[in-house]
Amino acid sequence: MKITAFNGSPRGAHGNTHVMVEAFLKGAEKAGAEVENIFLVNKNIKHCLGCFACWFKTPGRCIQKDDMEDLLEKYMSSDVVICATPLYVDHVTGIMKNFMDRIIPIVCPQFQKDECGQTKHVHRYDRYPAMIMISNCGFPEQDQFALLKLYCKRMREINKAEVLAEIYRSQGPLLTADHLVLKPVIGKYKRLLMKAGEEIVTGGKLSDDTVKKLEEPLIPEELYIQQTNKYMDEMVGKV
Ligand SMILES: Cc1cc2nc3c(=O)[nH]c(=O)nc-3n(C[C@H](O)[C@H](O)[C@H](O)COP(=O)(O)O)c2cc1C
Repeated sequence: MKITAFNGSPRGAHGNTHVMVEAFLKGAEKAGAEVENIFLVNKNIKHCLGCFACWFKTPGRCIQKDDMEDLLEKYMSSDVVICATPLYVDHVTGIMKNFMDRIIPIVCPQFQKDECGQTKHVHRYDRYPAMIMISNCGFPEQDQFALLKLYCKRMREINKAEVLAEIYRSQGPLLTADHLVLKPVIGKYKRLLMKAGEEIVTGGKLSDDTVKKLEEPLIPEELYIQQTNKYMDEMVGKV
């Protein structure tokens, strides 16, 4: 099984998203997967021109010359792709959205209605990679990810995408916080992510127990808000 992670954080390898992806991929690799971790911030990805050349002039290929041709090849040759992004204004980052827009060549322009009455584009290829969503955010509640959940739901229902797992982590900045008392908490969470990676490779899905544990807060919400505000007060005017 080949798993490719596309990380849309502008903070790349220094980010909280990376902590999640790294642990997940470690577990997946341990279970036998071939893994690749791509930081989109380091790639040259121009925004979609909306010219539809990838549909009409050069079907399946964008006319812009940048890293997207190579990334699309990696995307399509994967069994599983991880869409990894911090939550920005309730959604994916601009880097990730840019990448998502540029994936449009993999479908055909023609419309088709599915059995639920929803219109979608006709598939260009016989097979598409399954998908996993990994995201973290700054606020403490797990329901901050409502838009990403809706997006995954629509991917499942309309595009018939196989979304194998959605892993969301509120209180995300704790993942890179350099604080001694947090070490065991973060260590435990990373082990859980590793287990999630293993489960995807061995069974193609997360166990109910893993799903439940992944949703638990890292620290109590009130404590998180209190400590975050203390940090924010100290930082204001410093940077
Ligand atoms: C422009 C911007 C928008 C953000 N929007 C949200 C948001 O809507 N909800 C939230 O909980 N956190 C939000 N955050 C916080 C990030 O999701 C959080 O810091 C995350 O840990 C960053 O992950 P990274 O280190 O991988 O980049 C935002 C941060 C930035 C810079």
